[in-house]
Amino acid sequence: MIEISGLTKTYANGAVKAVDNLSLKVEAGEIFGFLGPNGAGKSTTIKSMIGVLPFEAGTVKIFGCDLKKNPLEAKKFIGFVPDNNVIYDKLTGIEYLNFMSAVYGVDNATRKERIEKYGALFNLSDDLSRQIKNYSHGMRQKICIMGAIIHKPKLWILDEPMTGLDPQSAFDLKKLMREYCESGSTVFFSSHVLDVAEKLCDRVAIINKGRLVVDTTMAELKEKQSDKSLEQYFLSVTGGSV
Ligand SMILES: Nc1ncnc2c1ncn2[C@@H]1O[C@H](COP(=O)(O)OP(=O)(O)O)[C@@H](O)[C@H]1O
Ligand SMILES: [Mg+2]
Repeated sequence: MIEISGLTKTYANGAVKAVDNLSLKVEAGEIFGFLGPNGAGKSTTIKSMIGVLPFEAGTVKIFGCDLKKNPLEAKKFIGFVPDNNVIYDKLTGIEYLNFMSAVYGVDNATRKERIEKYGALFNLSDDLSRQIKNYSHGMRQKICIMGAIIHKPKLWILDEPMTGLDPQSAFDLKKLMREYCESGSTVFFSSHVLDVAEKLCDRVAIINKGRLVVDTTMAELKEKQSDKSLEQYFLSVTGGSV
């Protein structure tokens, strides 16, 4: 379970409040969609809750482990796919996956098995011997995804994961996210693409201007908003126009 309480993060010496007193609970085994318009504070929240960015106030607990007090222990639970695909360009795909496996202590037999499985799933096996700097955007996204789940983290966090994926890869990723949850792990992903969230999530939260404006199960949302699509609802709570 993730417990975020009163998370506040500013940039530019306090001039920009990107995340404002945000509290959120994510239960184990669920697939959680973190939604919001561009600039709402999704990436900042994610980078704060995984220990990449320092934050001014609040606490983050990952399966009971306090991120500030025990950062290494908390981070072991997490696999993270960033939104910008910035990874080690000079490495080949296979070198990168071996590096990530080594960081998280995945033994040789297990990493080989997982690299074969995910390489085949994302149609990337033949490209693993090439340097990442020669990959397309979608291929980078796929190698980041593989590197983030090579150690089977209990918590898989993805920032705008569908961006740049072709339809087949997006379909395969959604299936993988679903299967991942069904095996007892937790998936937390951000998106501004609402139909992905609508189809995939058990729970959704909507953030706008750094503040949480909605936190509900998908079932409750569908019941309450039966007359509106998620898109209309999203626009109504984030100050958009329909
Ligand atoms: N490194 C940064 N320095 C200053 N402001 C930033 C920085 N990164 C993000 N911001 C600002 O913080 C706010 C939230 O950004 P972000 O978390 O990237 O939103 P989202 O991921 O929801 O699009 C925006 O106003 C953005 O301009
Ligand atoms: Mg973002």
